[in-house]
Amino acid sequence: MASLTVPLSLCFCAVFLSPAVADWNILHQNGKHHAALSLARSRLQISLQNYCESWRMNVELHNIRDFKVVPEECVPYIGNYVTSVQYQIDSQLTVEECIVYISTTCSFRKDGKDAWLFDVDDTLLSTIPYFKQHQFGGEMFNATAFEEWASKRKATPLEHTMRLYKVLKSMGVQIFLVSSRSENLRSATTDNLVDVGYHGWKSLFLRGNDELNGGVAQYKANVRQQLINDGYRIWGTVGDQFNSFAGLPSAGRTFKLPNPLYYVY
Ligand SMILES: *[C@@H]1O[C@H](CO)[C@@H](O)[C@H](O)[C@H]1NC(C)=O
Repeated sequence: MASLTVPLSLCFCAVFLSPAVADWNILHQNGKHHAALSLARSRLQISLQNYCESWRMNVELHNIRDFKVVPEECVPYIGNYVTSVQYQIDSQLTVEECIVYISTTCSFRKDGKDAWLFDVDDTLLSTIPYFKQHQFGGEMFNATAFEEWASKRKATPLEHTMRLYKVLKSMGVQIFLVSSRSENLRSATTDNLVDVGYHGWKSLFLRGNDELNGGVAQYKANVRQQLINDGYRIWGTVGDQFNSFAGLPSAGRTFKLPNPLYYVY
């Protein structure tokens, strides 16, 4: 009987839509928004602002996965967030926690084998200028358009992460950049990073043709395995996507920067 109850209750949800909910348009996305639907039908008085803030929070908690676009009704909210002081403060606090970890827990041996990993996009470089032109994630990600933009080398630095990068360099830690960008963006990526002030990383890993089809999470885990095989101790990794933290081997600690614009795994 239990198995019958669930579909029935979904039917009732569909029948008793309140007009206030319909205004949000969340029900017309792709027919899979049962979570949003039941939230909107709950006894709480939920504003669109409440809903979008909760959507963003649950993206960061990795409860919402595999989203292809930012929900249409939350595009203005997400646009405001990623261009806000709050976004900068959230990122800054991530970096502060990295520095707490580095100064209290890490005991670097300074033998050239202490390592730290960074993502590139929305970790060292900001793609917000690109997404400003692409509805802040409200339209399907277009890899061709993104690569055209990336090849122009105009991505701006994320100042908070640059500070961490410089702290690690001053402590003699080897820095590895592990990006889901493809190998054909190597010179553009290197130029862009150097132009905005990143220098002296040990290696920049990009995805070769044979790695483009597998998942990003597996590719990044393979990179960590390779580094460990080469004798490195990976103290930490900073990224804006959960694909940097999944699988084994893992880094000593993982630090997630905010990114509600897109999901890559
Ligand atoms: C993706 O971007 C390219 C380059 O800007 C463009 O030619 C193409 O039409 C876009 N594709 C879609 C589906 O929008």
